[in-house]
Amino acid sequence: MNLFLTGGAGYVGSACLRHLLKNGHNAIAYDNLIEGNRGSVPGGRLVVGDIADVDAMADCMRSERIDAVLHFAAAASVPESIKNPEFYYRSNVLGTKGVLDAMRRSGVRRIIFSSTAATYGFHARMPMTEDAPQTPQVPYGSTKLAAEWLIKDYAKAYGMGYTIFRYFNASGADIDGEHGEDRRDESHLIPLALAVAVGRRPRLLIFGDDFETQDGTCVRDYIHVDDLAQAHELAVESLEPGMGRAFNLGSGTGVTVLEVLRACEEAVGFPINHEIVDRRPGDPGVLIACPQRAMRQLGWSPRYTDIRQIVGSAWRWRRTHPDGYREPAEPAIEVDALYAGR
Ligand SMILES: NC(=O)c1ccc[n+]([C@@H]2O[C@H](COP(=O)([O-])OP(=O)(O)OC[C@H]3O[C@@H](n4cnc5c(N)ncnc54)[C@H](O)[C@@H]3O)[C@@H](O)[C@H]2O)c1
Repeated sequence: MNLFLTGGAGYVGSACLRHLLKNGHNAIAYDNLIEGNRGSVPGGRLVVGDIADVDAMADCMRSERIDAVLHFAAAASVPESIKNPEFYYRSNVLGTKGVLDAMRRSGVRRIIFSSTAATYGFHARMPMTEDAPQTPQVPYGSTKLAAEWLIKDYAKAYGMGYTIFRYFNASGADIDGEHGEDRRDESHLIPLALAVAVGRRPRLLIFGDDFETQDGTCVRDYIHVDDLAQAHELAVESLEPGMGRAFNLGSGTGVTVLEVLRACEEAVGFPINHEIVDRRPGDPGVLIACPQRAMRQLGWSPRYTDIRQIVGSAWRWRRTHPDGYREPAEPAIEVDALYAGR
């Protein structure tokens, strides 16, 4: 199929792009590179543009004879969304409307959307099924839920088909070690811990150790990015106009922040400097997915469910790319020298 991936130069989008190309699809990334990286997209597959630009997207969809859109592009940091909701509504709600309008103009009738566990907000019953009430507690979650509504209403009125994926914590790197997670404004636990390990950050902040969990830190469900890519391939291949479905994508198991930190320390082979600070607003204590619906209906089955495998893959990439995809701003640190003394 001919596929158009908004946000295809980002972490999850580029992993999906590479997976889809490997599996015989024709795919291009459309990304404004605000967080994405040219180096994460195979040559000739990147169109630089913003999802606010409906004309540019519609031209591209028409000229590439696109069959389906995978919509990853978004502003996706919870703390930033609390400080700057205007940018989040513009990027995630108006941006999604732009993608849908470009699809209508160019006759594309299938969309796969990257939504999030943050649309559920606080919820007592874990693991969480897709029928759990969607009551987001932070602007990031609200904007992604509003985007879900837009997609559902457009689909009904204009004959589109959709698959909504609510990811839990996307994590890990290419198992082959060639690609990894690298944003300018990082807010995810594993890349932050590993940035401390390669000397790019002074310490890891852990937000709260007074949650009602086994060690007091937050419990999250980490799902490997290659497993997400596999789910997208299955969805692309089974989605038809008129269809509407939503799936949680997680491993079904919860891991605490301190357990992730310990897995990182085990992977790197030395202690990672960290500090426990106050809770952040909007962080639920526990988020664990029930992935049964995706397993049953898509035939999906996550392969990398052990946190040590996930962290190990992230570390293989980070240790060989201490500056991520970017040229080093200062003389490169000799990675081996950095580890020698620890
Ligand atoms: N990473 C996670 O744990 C996680 C969890 C739940 C949901 N999600 C969702 O998955 C999607 C991908 O997340 P990610 O972790 O890969 O994030 P990311 O920041 O690495 O990727 C997002 C990409 O979108 C691009 N982008 C942002 N705004 C754009 C715009 N206006 N026009 C064009 N391109 C734009 C960025 O440059 C970036 O390449 C997002 O929609 C996010 O909300 C991610």
